[in-house]
Amino acid sequence: MKRPPSIREVAQLAGVSLGTASNVLNHPERVSTATRKKVEAAIDELGFIPSEAGRRLRRVDSKLVGVIVFDVANPFFSEAASAIEAYLAQFSCFPVIGSTGGDPTREADLLRLLLGQEVRGIILTPSSGAAESLKLLSSRRIPVVLFDHPALEDGMSAVSVDDTRGAEIAIEHLHSLGHRHIGFINGSARVRQAQARRVGVERSARASHNELTLTEVHAARFDAASGEKAMHELLTSHPEITGVFCANDSLAIGAMRAARQRNLGIPQDISIVGFDDIDVARELITPLTTVRQPMTELGTTAAQLLLEQPAHAQDIAFVPELIVRESTAPPRSWRI
Ligand code: RIB
Repeated sequence: MKRPPSIREVAQLAGVSLGTASNVLNHPERVSTATRKKVEAAIDELGFIPSEAGRRLRRVDSKLVGVIVFDVANPFFSEAASAIEAYLAQFSCFPVIGSTGGDPTREADLLRLLLGQEVRGIILTPSSGAAESLKLLSSRRIPVVLFDHPALEDGMSAVSVDDTRGAEIAIEHLHSLGHRHIGFINGSARVRQAQARRVGVERSARASHNELTLTEVHAARFDAASGEKAMHELLTSHPEITGVFCANDSLAIGAMRAARQRNLGIPQDISIVGFDDIDVARELITPLTTVRQPMTELGTTAAQLLLEQPAHAQDIAFVPELIVRESTAPPRSWRI
């Protein structure tokens, strides 16, 4: 029986040094994409099988867990990451955290760096272009749990909230107060969460039997500065709007700032609803009505699924909850 090909033969076929070929397997971040693809082609041609057992042993003992999200500056992610960190600490593990901004290239670079660190596994908020990266992680048998995203395939664990239902209950709340002209400040249309929330808004509009007019604007980023800008655009073009739903609390905070700049009372002149229920939402001058995502439970569950690696993957969608505070009320026309 022919003996299996060696890493030395892979290096020779690829025309690289033995060290470079080894780096492609163990420290891919040290190798250029072009060289890595040459070595991977040689591996495929020869049918080389890396000593996975050795790598898996090193990985299972690793105390590092990759946590790759959209933006650690967004309190939604930082509050969830704090819960992940607390859960991992019980097992003497700790997170290696990075932000992708939803950019597939940045995401691929961060994941490649983690591949070289022998992490126990990765908790990932995937970008819209994560398929290639997820395939690479799967080929290296790196455990992955998706965070803030439903499972992309069978056998993959994931935790998220029902974004569509969350947006639906936000619009239903404004409708029930008497608002008929509603604005929707959404994030970038390329972001899955924004797409799912739009579906909920549209579903609510249909259910209102045309009682509602809904105007959507897209903020460049899911942050307060973008929310402020979007709110000015919305109210300048549609002064009839009395209620605004923002796709996350950071956008809502910016929208509130814009309302005050226009001398609009909250909720006397304009009602505003957010999404997430970050800690600061309840501390604002006008505490924010919002749709709560259970950040702590989301983070804890993701970390638990990653460390436990259950025999059957679990795709868990938490139920969003409307938290009514002082930023919403019936429109002035409804108040006698
Ligand atoms: O990443 C943008 C938003 O999507 C966050 O604020 C949170 O709502 C997430 O689900």
